[in-house]
Amino acid sequence: MQRERAAARTGPDRESPRNVSASALDGVVVPFASTVPATKRRATMAETTSSFSHWNKHARQWQHVKAPLRPCAEDLALIVEALARHFPDRATLNGLLLGVTPELAENRWAHVLRLVAVDNTLAMIQGVWPKDDEHRHAICGDWLQLPLNDASMDVALIDGGLPAMSFPDAYRQLATQLHRVLKPGGLFVTRIFARPENAETVGNVLAALQSRQIGNFHILKWRLAMALQGDDASTGVRLDDIWRYIDKHCGQHAGLAQMTGWPIEEIGTIDAYRGSSAIYQFPSVGELVGAFGAKLDCVEEKRCTYELAERFPTLVFRKTAAP
Ligand SMILES: C[S@@+](CC[C@H](N)C(=O)[O-])C[C@H]1O[C@@H](n2cnc3c(N)ncnc32)[C@H](O)[C@@H]1O
Repeated sequence: MQRERAAARTGPDRESPRNVSASALDGVVVPFASTVPATKRRATMAETTSSFSHWNKHARQWQHVKAPLRPCAEDLALIVEALARHFPDRATLNGLLLGVTPELAENRWAHVLRLVAVDNTLAMIQGVWPKDDEHRHAICGDWLQLPLNDASMDVALIDGGLPAMSFPDAYRQLATQLHRVLKPGGLFVTRIFARPENAETVGNVLAALQSRQIGNFHILKWRLAMALQGDDASTGVRLDDIWRYIDKHCGQHAGLAQMTGWPIEEIGTIDAYRGSSAIYQFPSVGELVGAFGAKLDCVEEKRCTYELAERFPTLVFRKTAAP
């Protein structure tokens, strides 16, 4: 399988830094990063033709994308509690958001969070990110080449974005980047998409669908994606293969909607995967923690109570003292 990964696009992007409300960026963004608001930029060729094109499609249908791809109130509460526990004496925190998760951008935090979001899909920034303001600012860039100063962040957050990264190599690169930009003692808090220790079979998922034991389309999609991958995270699953499997075995959108009562618009979100050669990889919790290795130390693992929540735990990592 040919893997396509997004090219770095944080390099010198020499637009002049005008019209910028810079307060969320002060002292944390490297000088070469574009400070022209990403909400106002035009996409470059790299941004419009990247393997993340399914994110371009998702950007147009985000209101139909639901949990668990998006975090629910219970997930958000875990993050708020983690920050309150680990930074009890701090009023203001510098936060890095990997992705543009609006629920995190708009959340009411116990701290004043000065948030810099980094995402490589301009359509997601322009379509999903809430407006920049004095406390939050989005930058178009790659997580593996973060356009941020060393030791500038108290905390880094990512909600469910890791499956898009090559396992384990890109995980190691991300750990190195986060270790670089976090301050000593800084935290990385992430809700992950982890396969179970022993993958379930696709037959098992289809049987659960037939007997109406699956609560919504989004749960079906992730169960099938993980089952199609199986136990070996290094192989992953191609997004187009997920689309094809659902199309062939679960009925077309109208049939599946009729059988289950699920909104057809939510079922239709799977079309973002059609023809995509991007690959998702699902390591187990243990494999993922191992890949972050010496740079990030896992200090907490919390789980919610919703359907399939055991596969979407929130992990808290602390930057290690390693060089
Ligand atoms: C944070 S993740 C997962 C979705 C998430 N749960 C949410 O609610 O937004 C999705 C985002 O990650 C971005 N992304 C994926 N890989 C990336 C990378 N290597 N660098 C920058 N952005 C990336 C995509 O463009 C997309 O907007």
